[in-house]
Amino acid sequence: MTDPATDTRATPLAELHMHIEGALEPELIFELAQRNRIDLPYADLDDLRSRYEFTDLQSFLDLYFANMTVLRTAQDFADLARSYLARAAVAGVRHAEIFFNPQAHTARGVPLREVLEGLGDALAGSEAEHGVSTGLIAGILRDRPVPEADALLTDLVGSGAPLLGIGLDSAEVGYPPSLFVDVFGRARAAGLHVVAHAGEEGPPDYIRQALDLLGVERIDHGIRCVEDDDLVDRLVRDRVPLTLCPLSNVRLRVVDRLADHPIRRMLARGLHVTVNSDDPAYFGGYVDDNLARLRADVGLTDAERERLARNSIEASFASPARKAELLGG
Ligand code: HPA
Ligand code: ZN
Repeated sequence: MTDPATDTRATPLAELHMHIEGALEPELIFELAQRNRIDLPYADLDDLRSRYEFTDLQSFLDLYFANMTVLRTAQDFADLARSYLARAAVAGVRHAEIFFNPQAHTARGVPLREVLEGLGDALAGSEAEHGVSTGLIAGILRDRPVPEADALLTDLVGSGAPLLGIGLDSAEVGYPPSLFVDVFGRARAAGLHVVAHAGEEGPPDYIRQALDLLGVERIDHGIRCVEDDDLVDRLVRDRVPLTLCPLSNVRLRVVDRLADHPIRRMLARGLHVTVNSDDPAYFGGYVDDNLARLRADVGLTDAERERLARNSIEASFASPARKAELLGG
């Protein structure tokens, strides 16, 4: 397989679906706990690593939210983002649209400005340091109260921080997109891009709701669209990007084994799919690891890898000039 990091002919990647808090590696958890004088409930690194066995989305989210309590200061957020950007560059990523979960921090007393300042600092230096252009997307926690999301949007817009858009994530089933019509309408009116997790554990109807009620431009995951032929027809016709995360799907038991992942069938059907790492510190790797495993376990070809890379750049919110540069055109 072509290695995007070294093969100058291969189209580079845009990573469109990763949660920066999900790039918090075990070593950094211990380092930040020490820096911030936080007692961790783990004896050592091995003890922490032994907990990375998940049965579903919620079992992962429990550990994800517990571990991110080590993030307190702007410096912590900057260190986290820098470590991700350096690793993503090695993976062949040249453009990254990065989710963060403001409510997960403000709810435990960390001011929004600390989060925005730290992430902003790291992202501002990314193109010069790593050759990776970036954008930030605030992920709304769909299992928290809707008025909290509304207040968050007001705070984000008022902060003046450079924000690409908003997304919708966390526990999906029971929290349909329809709850967030007003918040997403306000975000669109404010000129923000809008995306949403839908059809990961939730039914295909949540994908329809995200498109029809929230006006999203991409669907995060969306893998369960394959259960609904009419929906697939529509996604193909409208070229709606789906940001798939294959290793995440295995670790959260959305599919039994990577060999069962429908990504090649989805590509062949004409769906606009991309490959992403979701929470790379938790799910067994970064975007290059996802592609290598797809090659080994489902027989992903070089031509398909190239299609995925081009899809990722076309589906990004990068400027037309940046897209042309990345597509080599
Ligand atoms: N799904 C929903 N919420 C998330 C995920 C995910 O895969 N990762 C981090 N938050
Ligand atoms: Zn996700």
